[in-house]
Amino acid sequence: METATAGTGDNVAAQPAGARRRVFSGMQPSGEFHLGNYIGALKRWVLGQEEKENFFCVVDLHSLTVPQDPAELRMRTRQLTAIYLAAGIHPDKSTLFVQSHVTAHAEGCWLLNCVTPLGWLNKMTQYKDKSAKQESVLTGLLDYPVLMAADILLYDAQEVPTGEDQKQHIELARNIAERFNHLYGETFVVPEPVIAKVGARIMGLDNPLVKMSKSSSGVRGHSVGPLDDPAEIERSFKRAVTDPGNEIRFSDDPAKAGVNNLLSIYQVITGRSGEEVENDFANARGYGDLKKRVAEVVIEEFRPVREGAARLMADAAELDRLLARGAEQAAAVAMPKLREMKEKMGLIVP
Ligand code: AMP
Ligand code: TRP
Repeated sequence: METATAGTGDNVAAQPAGARRRVFSGMQPSGEFHLGNYIGALKRWVLGQEEKENFFCVVDLHSLTVPQDPAELRMRTRQLTAIYLAAGIHPDKSTLFVQSHVTAHAEGCWLLNCVTPLGWLNKMTQYKDKSAKQESVLTGLLDYPVLMAADILLYDAQEVPTGEDQKQHIELARNIAERFNHLYGETFVVPEPVIAKVGARIMGLDNPLVKMSKSSSGVRGHSVGPLDDPAEIERSFKRAVTDPGNEIRFSDDPAKAGVNNLLSIYQVITGRSGEEVENDFANARGYGDLKKRVAEVVIEEFRPVREGAARLMADAAELDRLLARGAEQAAAVAMPKLREMKEKMGLIVP
């Protein structure tokens, strides 16, 4: 798959030549995992898994930045782990763990808070959007991107594969890394966002002008996910908003955003080129045909994820064992880095 790598910074503490590039990414366990999460992030993690050294995290501390039901959060943390595994994240090839199990994340966040100007956080568009929708905004929501910087920097990750909406947060992590390196000497690798050219911003099926998002997942026909009933997925695609025309082509015309979105979904899932995708639909009978075929590939893609996740969820003890192993592996990398931060900042490290 084609990817666009943004950012140009020198990786100051880069690993020795020949070492596999290190990847860190994560997802919040709150809300309903959807097709946008799958295409913008998880599928790409799986595709890149073989040639990279990977750390994939279930970022439960980030979920706490908005109120959560405790039992539901615990269930969703295991459920997202099961989805990662069922989608093809392999515990022998990737370190898979829960953020709160490695205490260095919260501690590292505190240390980074103390080198991050408040003005940088006030500029984050995701914070501005989310806080505008809430009556009472928690401090953690403002601090969210610093915790995310700690996630990434503790592992000296060179690449951070996410959807388009995380680019500004990764840029902030770069700025924090550079500032820390400047203040205390070379400590962190300056990470690069890795955002795909196609599929980095999947739009809502009910409204192709807004991003598919967890916060709208309750809206009927907005999103589909791997745990949904296939008949429901088919219905959501059938109802997908398009336009009054009949041309099945990629386009950046906002009036054609619905068709463009359907084609992008099809392209990433089938792994074909843009040209091949348009050829596939050259003889299609209208948008009804397009929607039907996109629904089919999505349902087929999700089938093993749905079945695998259900199997894994039936054995919570086994999932917890896997996560304990992942946390141990992650801590072996993150704890020495945290120690280095503390020493450089003048703390007595026992
Ligand atoms: P979140 O839903 O905020 O937990 O996002 C988890 C991951 O999915 C991040 O890498 C996001 O950038 C990505 N993502 C979220 N929504 C979309 C979307 N509509 N299209 C593509 N990627 C997305
Ligand atoms: N903020 C990310 C999101 O909502 C999740 C996240 C937390 C993350 N820490 C991260 C992504 C570190 C990449 C790297 O999607």
